[in-house]
Amino acid sequence: MKKIILAPSLLSANFNNLQKDIDMINNSKADWFHLDIMDGVFVPNISFGFSVVKHIKKIAKKPLDVHLMIIQPERYIEEWKNVGADILTVHYEACTHLHRTIQQIKSLGMKAGVSLNPHTSVDLLDDILPELDLVLIMSVNPGFGGQSFIKNSLRKIEKLRLMADITNPGLIIQVDGGVDKNNYRQIVKAGANALVAGSAVFGADNPEEMIKLLKSF
Ligand code: DX5
Ligand code: ZN
Repeated sequence: MKKIILAPSLLSANFNNLQKDIDMINNSKADWFHLDIMDGVFVPNISFGFSVVKHIKKIAKKPLDVHLMIIQPERYIEEWKNVGADILTVHYEACTHLHRTIQQIKSLGMKAGVSLNPHTSVDLLDDILPELDLVLIMSVNPGFGGQSFIKNSLRKIEKLRLMADITNPGLIIQVDGGVDKNNYRQIVKAGANALVAGSAVFGADNPEEMIKLLKSF
């Protein structure tokens, strides 16, 4: 049995009753809360920011996995730490001095992740890979929940796992976008060990059961 880290994305939760969905995740077999932060510039959508995350932190009983889809994320690293981020993931495409940004995240005691858009090759991570705790492969174009999984992501996951075997065997490979009960096994087989699921979890008749299913391999 493989250990899969499952992080439901609150983007698909019911924002009229966030407490209920947070309690559900607290009581479920999910591992982390995945929080999608969008600035309306890096991606064509705006989600939520510091104050919402700060309130989630007060009641969340599991680590906060914060996925920054914002330009110049280096401007706000400390703020994310202060509102309770445990894992902080920045986009490769949004960072001019990625190495420095990763060091900043780690120096504050958070796990550091880098995310790649569908068009960005995993080869570009070769020199930074030993520094990373996590790589997030975007398997849809970031910005919205409920899109379909881009098949080529499987090839990227396989390639990245081979690279990591050499320079960073403990690397967490997380996959985000269009993950559901029909494709998660293939994704894990390709080499991922962390999955994000938004609509698959919150659109299910029984979200807790769906979480359990997406962790069973
Ligand atoms: C998309 C976000 C995802 C999104 C996934 O930009 O990064 O985390 O919530 O949603 P689903 O699982 O519905 O594709
Ligand atoms: Zn995400």
